[in-house]
Amino acid sequence: MKICRTKAELRDAVQGFRAQNETIGLVPTMGYLHEGHMTLVRTAKAQTNRVIITIFVNPTQFGDPSDLDAYPRDEARDFALLKAEGVDAVFAPAVEEMYDPSAQTVVETEQLANMLMGALRPDHYKGVCTIVAKLFNIAQADKAFFGEKDYQQLLVIKTMVRDLDMPIEAIGVPTVREIDGLAMSSRNVRLSPEDRQAALILNKALAYGDYEASDGREAADLENDIRAFIAREPRATVQSVDVRDAASLEVPTGQITAPVVILLAATFGDVLLIDQRVCDPN
Ligand code: PAF
Repeated sequence: MKICRTKAELRDAVQGFRAQNETIGLVPTMGYLHEGHMTLVRTAKAQTNRVIITIFVNPTQFGDPSDLDAYPRDEARDFALLKAEGVDAVFAPAVEEMYDPSAQTVVETEQLANMLMGALRPDHYKGVCTIVAKLFNIAQADKAFFGEKDYQQLLVIKTMVRDLDMPIEAIGVPTVREIDGLAMSSRNVRLSPEDRQAALILNKALAYGDYEASDGREAADLENDIRAFIAREPRATVQSVDVRDAASLEVPTGQITAPVVILLAATFGDVLLIDQRVCDPN
């Protein structure tokens, strides 16, 4: 497994793969890998000849500097996991390698980036799109793999790829859950044991919402019901509950008749967790 710290090193590795006519899969991550990331790697391996994973805690997508500092990191462990999984190259650059101090170009999906989670975290998706566009340019992969857990991020990235004619396919991979239903996330390690238990309410709320969505409900009513359901867990502070059209993230009008996505964000202590489920009412 090649470990690349610079863009030049990664470009060299990519040239080597291309010289052998191999297809390349890219898995962008911020490290502190868990089973969810490994599922992305395995999906990439199944669909492409060579897999590149990037590990970069991207400062431009964090609003709060303390959230950036608190983001868990364990590079040695990540490298060992990736080697065992048979990854071909890891790109783990320093911040200075990725951002020129005089950089002035950003990528933004205007509407999608500013609704929902983007309204709660201004500039977050602009930071995501900009770094992902840079990684796409450096890695020149055929396909890139992202978890469906961050549903809005996946739509934002797919939209960027479409709008800018990027020669890459962005692929969503279903959320991987712990045995008790908690969606895997690098943030889970920051939960106290009590909050870890309390956080199970999110997956239960999604199952409840899915059941209710097939009952001719309107989106706003469903959102209220899900909010009330989560409020039964005193350790949960709901940040947002949104029921949106699964394809456009627009607010559905009238009774739910087409697939919707339920998007949840809640804090447990100071840890923000998100989860989602697509529900087909038909
Ligand atoms: O989902 C993530 O881990 C990040 O947002 C990503 C896509 C790697 C960009 O920094």
